[in-house]
Amino acid sequence: MLRVESLSFAYGDAQVLDSVSLEVGKGEIVALVGANGAGKTTLLRTVSRLVKPVSGKVTLDGEDFSRLRAHEVVRRGLIHVPEGRRIFPEMTVRENLRLGSFTTRTDRERNLEKAFALFPVLLAREGQLGGTLSGGEQQMLALARGLMANPRLLLLDEPSLGLAPIIVKQIFETIVAINQQGISILLVEQNVYQSLHIAQRAYVLERGRVVLQGEGKALLENPDVKKAFLGA
Ligand SMILES: Nc1ncnc2c1ncn2[C@@H]1O[C@H](COP(=O)(O)OP(=O)(O)O)[C@@H](O)[C@H]1O
Ligand SMILES: [Mg+2]
Repeated sequence: MLRVESLSFAYGDAQVLDSVSLEVGKGEIVALVGANGAGKTTLLRTVSRLVKPVSGKVTLDGEDFSRLRAHEVVRRGLIHVPEGRRIFPEMTVRENLRLGSFTTRTDRERNLEKAFALFPVLLAREGQLGGTLSGGEQQMLALARGLMANPRLLLLDEPSLGLAPIIVKQIFETIVAINQQGISILLVEQNVYQSLHIAQRAYVLERGRVVLQGEGKALLENPDVKKAFLGA
């Protein structure tokens, strides 16, 4: 479904992505793991066309993204839920969700119902300002806003960052539930253990290069992965 081929990116002289290739198949959860600064966020930003690669190619179901703008990528069902949530604190929960549907207005009411069914806590707080939500609720709002745009593929950047363990568990359960609705997911996570558990496949990024790839459960047993990410 998503194919990234030999993608390279640099900030000035600093090469951040070095010929990265990866794929996400239809219905898959694919994890992308790597240390801080490995280039994970940059990879997601390049795929969603927030920044332009130096070279390489991204296609979704065979369609080349090279000439597309970020909003055109959204229209094709590739939705990026960025690091740090980025909800609008001065807007209500419902207003935040409506903003997620700028490409899908005719489906707005149906999508709101679906989002509230998946996140009942947001229904209970629909008139509350985004900035007054807890960190976990803000993350749920960010995910729900992504769902408003009829995604076929979600790029999730550190959805569990900074959240309490019990909330982290809920976020991972929600990611699985979203995937079970047929939405493919490329997941970037600090929480390597849980992300490899729910991912069919995974890639390890090190200083902008893919150094390892395989099935999620197999990578959990990999000695290098254990040493680098699982504290073993
Ligand atoms: N706007 C920027 N300008 C210059 N360098 C950047 C910028 N954003 C990120 N970088 C650098 O790019 C590298 C990869 O960053 P990033 O993609 O955020 O990694 P990760 O998400 O894996 O932590 C880091 O060395 C970081 O310092
Ligand atoms: Mg990052």
